[in-house]
Amino acid sequence: MTDIIQSENALLKKIKNDFIGLDTVYTLADGRKTTRVYLDSTASTLMMGPAYDILEEFLDHYANSHSVLHFSAKITTSQYEWAHQRVLSFLGADPEKYTCFFTGSGTTAGINRLARVLRDYRKEKDIVLISIMEHHSNDLPHRKHAGKVIHISLDNSAQGQPGCLDIRALEKNLDKYKDRVNYVSITGISNVTGIINPIYDIAELAHSYGALILIDGAQTAAHMPVQMSGHSNPDRDLDAFIFSGHKTYVPGSPGVVVCRKDILLSIEPEELGGGMVDDVFIDKYIIKDNFPDREEAGTPNIPGAIALAAAIEVMDKIGMDIIYHEEDELVKNTMERMKTIQDIAIYGETDISKCSRAGSISFNIKGMDHGLVASVLNDYFNIAVRNECFCAHPYVKELILDDLLEAVTDIPDNELESKYKLIAGMVRASFGIYNKHEDVDALISALKQIVTQKNEFKQLYHVDETGNYVHNTFKIDIENNFSVSNAINSLLNI
Ligand code: ALA
Repeated sequence: MTDIIQSENALLKKIKNDFIGLDTVYTLADGRKTTRVYLDSTASTLMMGPAYDILEEFLDHYANSHSVLHFSAKITTSQYEWAHQRVLSFLGADPEKYTCFFTGSGTTAGINRLARVLRDYRKEKDIVLISIMEHHSNDLPHRKHAGKVIHISLDNSAQGQPGCLDIRALEKNLDKYKDRVNYVSITGISNVTGIINPIYDIAELAHSYGALILIDGAQTAAHMPVQMSGHSNPDRDLDAFIFSGHKTYVPGSPGVVVCRKDILLSIEPEELGGGMVDDVFIDKYIIKDNFPDREEAGTPNIPGAIALAAAIEVMDKIGMDIIYHEEDELVKNTMERMKTIQDIAIYGETDISKCSRAGSISFNIKGMDHGLVASVLNDYFNIAVRNECFCAHPYVKELILDDLLEAVTDIPDNELESKYKLIAGMVRASFGIYNKHEDVDALISALKQIVTQKNEFKQLYHVDETGNYVHNTFKIDIENNFSVSNAINSLLNI
């Protein structure tokens, strides 16, 4: 066993250095040229080298999967089918019961699709339960398609900051609305705080009330192992899981849906077109019975799916539990060190013994706008982070208000609201498989310097008409760093 772990770690060590963009160099505001520290993986991960190499190799054989008889069509079709099976095994989903299909761009396309599917699957059930911590993509599609969406509150029973979904509040709502609840749709890991939800406990509870369970796996797939089926208590199995290749080390790959076949078979597919019908007449059409064809109208993003399957194969060879533990160390270490820096407020429950995290930490520096901090991290330290509200406005608002209330207890509501508007955003440092302790060192040292030189940095920036922080004298020379037309000219030697 030790040998296996060691050889798996050896593979992880090798892979860690094999991502495209780890050596990207930029010139900073003080004239230094340094290598970028990429801490924005929650938005999009860098591309895994082996997935890129496999994609390049595959392109020699690329053809349309709807063509049948030529060699390339046969190779493409077989490998595209394999990609579906690879996803099912990655997520521990029984291929007899579940299908995988690729759809549109990102998790958003998949959740919109399932919101329509589940609306039609159980028309009589008009309520959907989600949490307050959801990304807009796991909120707005349900608002559009379900009769009513209820946002479940978060657990802050420990008198700390908000943690994961409050199971008791969920149960209360399941009990109150009983037969009206169609499904519960919950993120596995928050894209704001990295807080992990207990998805199998939530599944068990939802199922005990006859509700289905959908997991927004956008942040989960790349960070921790998933077991959709095969639990000793089948109520802990998941009905659907949606994620995206661009957050799983393959930019340009499609959104992915894994869903129970019986649900999809009970209604006509939501999208119609070529490739998913057995025959079409002027007055009728006959939809294929087989998966995934019936769910994939039109020519799919085959190269994206192949590259994604390659990345997943590599991740499984390392072991998702090993990846989880490795990243867990990094996140814990970052958070513990950030906590020691004066004036940094970290959002969400920070006590790891009460609430685990993966992937993301969001924070603010007191007295500095999140836009200013993100700009300084970029311009003076070459650290790429994201700021603002991360497409999760209700959650960001709740976390900031909670923090304000903790600081000032007797503040009237109207003042609280205007103070919130002044802050309205955070800085997020987020991690991937390629991040190392040196990246954490770079972040911590940069934050320490920013905190001690707040006023100096403030004077170097102004806010432009769009509300963004702009350096008074420094600007990235985009054309000189990369432009498609310059790159083409140099490639073609013209
Ligand atoms: N919504 C994605 C994020 O969290 C892009 O950054």
